[in-house]
Amino acid sequence: MNQNETPLFTGVKNHADKKPTQFHIPGHKGGKGMDKEFQQFIGENALSIDLINIEPLDDLHHPQGMIKDAQNLAAEAFGADYTFFSVQGTSGAIMTMIMSVCQPGDKIIVPRNVHKSITTAIIFSGAKPVFIHPELDNRLGISHGITPEAVERACTAHPDAKGVLVINPTYFGITADLSHIVDIAHSFDIPVLVDEAHGVHIHFHERLPLSAMQAGADLAATSVHKLGGSLTQSSVLNLREGLVSHERVQTIMSMLTTTSTSYILLASLDTARRHLAMNGHELMESCIRLADSARKSLNQIPSIYCPGDEILASDATHDYDPTKLIISVKNLGISGYDVEVWLRENYSIEVELSDLYNILCIITPGDREEDVERLIEALTDLYEQSSGTVETKEIVVKVPDIPVLSLSPREAFYASTEVLPLHDAVGRISAEFVMVYPPGIPIFIPGEIITTDNIAYIHENIQAGLPVQGPEDSTLETIHVITEQKAFK
Ligand SMILES: Cc1ncc(COP(=O)(O)O)c(C=O)c1O
Repeated sequence: MNQNETPLFTGVKNHADKKPTQFHIPGHKGGKGMDKEFQQFIGENALSIDLINIEPLDDLHHPQGMIKDAQNLAAEAFGADYTFFSVQGTSGAIMTMIMSVCQPGDKIIVPRNVHKSITTAIIFSGAKPVFIHPELDNRLGISHGITPEAVERACTAHPDAKGVLVINPTYFGITADLSHIVDIAHSFDIPVLVDEAHGVHIHFHERLPLSAMQAGADLAATSVHKLGGSLTQSSVLNLREGLVSHERVQTIMSMLTTTSTSYILLASLDTARRHLAMNGHELMESCIRLADSARKSLNQIPSIYCPGDEILASDATHDYDPTKLIISVKNLGISGYDVEVWLRENYSIEVELSDLYNILCIITPGDREEDVERLIEALTDLYEQSSGTVETKEIVVKVPDIPVLSLSPREAFYASTEVLPLHDAVGRISAEFVMVYPPGIPIFIPGEIITTDNIAYIHENIQAGLPVQGPEDSTLETIHVITEQKAFK
């Protein structure tokens, strides 16, 4: 296959070049029928390929032409047997992975710090989660992935599980030994499903951790849009054949996907794949170089710490992605959240995420040296404006305990509920998700018993200004719980 070709992008462009008279949707017809200001802003080229699945353009639901060719090229580039394009982000691909392997009542082994799309898929499928605690990092105050040992214990206790889900890499760029985890799960004939939302690029450089397909995993939901250069919302689902059927995956993907698939998004996946396949190694080489030099400069600012190789100190931290700059600001005496706001207001710098103790900045092929210099200048200024004294602050990582699961998340989601003040809800079964986002660690999921400690954790996050999300009442003064069954009237 020729990775320089873009069958889908080229096919759509050629179709648009013929300027057909269109009696089909989208009704703006190349932009002529839409608001002028938006039309001019978006531009003629983009609007000319905002098309739907008319016959010459193939159909994502039954690909046989240009989409199939583009997916085959992507499969080769990502080292997969099959690649499915997703126009519903990695969330759509994750739901497909889980619903492809789990039926109602089936067990799935998952880390606790999963993205909300995983919990959603568990509700949709009726699966029962077997949670594994991620390893905690007491120095940074973040959670990492799950260890091979924890996977071995979970598979031994639940050999009937239908899948092991691994986040590889984590939002912060950390990976466990995925090959080892795959070997363990496969020895129980359990497929490994990888949330690779933050790792599309790792396949293309040897200094980056192994990708899911390189490690032998069965399925990987991969955000091309996050770090691979395609447009927001476009992702891929990669499959290695053996334990999971590609026909089943295609069927589920189709059930969960809009029938109005955006060709702008699909074409951007096709071209992002070409760019990664043709130039990925070189692009990653410069990203790593830029990130390494940024890390060195950051570590020269007193009170700031940006971890490097020394983070690889445990089974959960087998490898890391150096293009992720985890910037620990706890010794500045202010929260990561305050640093995020300060950078926005004083330097017009936007970071990827912040939590109580850190900010996360990502380096991609879109960055230049001057961007990194500005970040260093800003953080140096922030340090100088702070007391200027280096405070060595001990942190206690507070990740909530996993509550007891009393009903399956699906049963709880559909049960009758009542609303209670949060402080009166101790001992009751939550009917809602409550999570801190990003990175989306659930405090409760539907079906879990609410505890005093978890309510205290929620209050701590609210007081720190971090967004606690999920419940209908966004103030979190009240929560939906499952109505208690009364034995007698
Ligand atoms: C770990 C993780 N998994 C999955 C997703 C979902 O990806 P998408 O936004 O492409 O749906 C995200 C998004 O932030 C994420 O952080």
